[in-house]
Amino acid sequence: MKQIKLAVIPGDGVGVEIMPYATKVLDAVADLHGGLKFEHEWYPYSCEYYLEHGEMMPKDGLDQLSQHDAVFLGAVGNPKLVADHISLWGLLINIRRGFKQTLNIRHAKQLRGIQPMVTNPGGFDLIVVRENSEGEYSEVGGRIHSGEDEVVVQNAVFTRKATERAMRYAFDLAKTRKGHVTSATKSNGIVFSMPFWDEVFEQVGQDYPDIEKRTAHIDALSAFLVSKPAEFDVIVASNLFGDILTDISAAVMGSIGIGPAANLNVDGTHPSMFEPVHGSAPDIVGRGIANPIGQIWTAKMMLDHFGESELADQLLTIVEDVTEAGIKTPDVGGRSTTGEVSEEIISRIQQLT
Ligand code: NAD
Ligand code: IPM
Ligand code: MN
Repeated sequence: MKQIKLAVIPGDGVGVEIMPYATKVLDAVADLHGGLKFEHEWYPYSCEYYLEHGEMMPKDGLDQLSQHDAVFLGAVGNPKLVADHISLWGLLINIRRGFKQTLNIRHAKQLRGIQPMVTNPGGFDLIVVRENSEGEYSEVGGRIHSGEDEVVVQNAVFTRKATERAMRYAFDLAKTRKGHVTSATKSNGIVFSMPFWDEVFEQVGQDYPDIEKRTAHIDALSAFLVSKPAEFDVIVASNLFGDILTDISAAVMGSIGIGPAANLNVDGTHPSMFEPVHGSAPDIVGRGIANPIGQIWTAKMMLDHFGESELADQLLTIVEDVTEAGIKTPDVGGRSTTGEVSEEIISRIQQLT
C-alpha cells in the first residue's frame, strides 16, 4: 500500500468550504487505485487561529508540517480580521520559504464545458512557471522618511540561482510539451532586475537550442494572454509577474476559481505544497457557490507529483465530464453549489471502482 501523508490546511473563507470535498475526492481517487491511501491530518492555521493565538501557526508549525509528504492548502486571508501582509507572510509565504518551495507551477487550459474568455477553436494549453521565493516579494526596504516627505522603499531581490532554476525548469518542461518558452520581462522600464532576468534567459536558453524562445514585456504579454492564449506553451515569470499572469490565465479559462497550482520543493528536502490560484474569496463566502475545481485540479497536480499521472488524468477527465454535463457553479455560468459539483465528481469516480 502506498501511503501519502498530507497536512491539510483549509485556511480561510472558501478554503474551509471546499477542502472537505477536495479531500473526499482524493479518497475516492485512492480507492479507484486500490493500492493508494491518503492520510490526512488537519491543521487549523488561519486568521481565526491568529485571533486566538496571536500567530498564524505555532513556532514549531513548520516542524509539524514537515512530518508530511505534502501540504494541501485551501486559501489564506480574512482582511476584516487580520491584515493581509500579516496573515499571508505568517502562513502561506512562511511555508513557501520555509520549505524552499522555489517554483510555483500553474496550469491553464481550455476545459470541456467551460466557456473561455475568448473562443479558441483549437483550445489552449499553457503552464506558467513562477519564481516563488524572491523577486518583488522581498523584505528589503522600509519607511525611510515620514511626515510630508514620506518615502517608502520596496526592493526586489533577484539571485542568479533562483532565476536560473526557474528558467531551466521552464525549458525542461517545454521539451516535454510544445517546445516553446516565453519569458515575461519589463526591461524597458525596470533597469536592474529585468535586464538581468533577460540576460539569464538568454544564457540558459543557449543550453536549449531546440526550444523556441520569446521575450515579451509583461504589459503586452498580459494582453496577448487574454487575446491569444493559444500562442503560449510555457511562460517563465518572476514572482509578481507570475502571480498576476496566473489570475489572468485562470480568468481566461473561465474563472479565477478553477486555476490549479503546485508550490514545488525541487531539491526534495521538504514537502511541496498544493493550493489553488484563487484566494479566500470573502465576497462569496457562506453562500455555497465557490467553485471547487481549482482545488480539485490542484489535487490532480499533487497526484502527478506523486507519480500517479494516470489517476491524475482520469480525475481531470471526470471534472470535465461534469462541467460538460452542465453541473457547474455560477462563476462559470452554472447553477450548482460547491457541494453538488463536488459530489457529482466523487460519485462519478466511485462509479469507476
Ligand atoms: P480572490 O482570489 O479570493 O477573489 C477574487 C475574485 O475571484 C472574487 O470575486 C472571488 O469571489 C472570485 N473567486 C475566487 N475563488 C473563487 C472560487 N473558488 N469560486 C468562485 N469564485 C471565486 O482574491 P482577493 O479577493 O484579492 O483576495 C481575497 C483574500 O484571499 C485576501 O485576503 C488575499 O490576500 C487572499 N489570497 C490568498 C491566496 C492564497 O491563499 N493562495 C491567493 C490569493 C488571495
Ligand atoms: C497567490 C497569492 C499570494 C501571492 C498572495 C496572497 C500573497 O496571490 O498565491 O497567487 O501573491 O503569492
Ligand atoms: Mn495570486
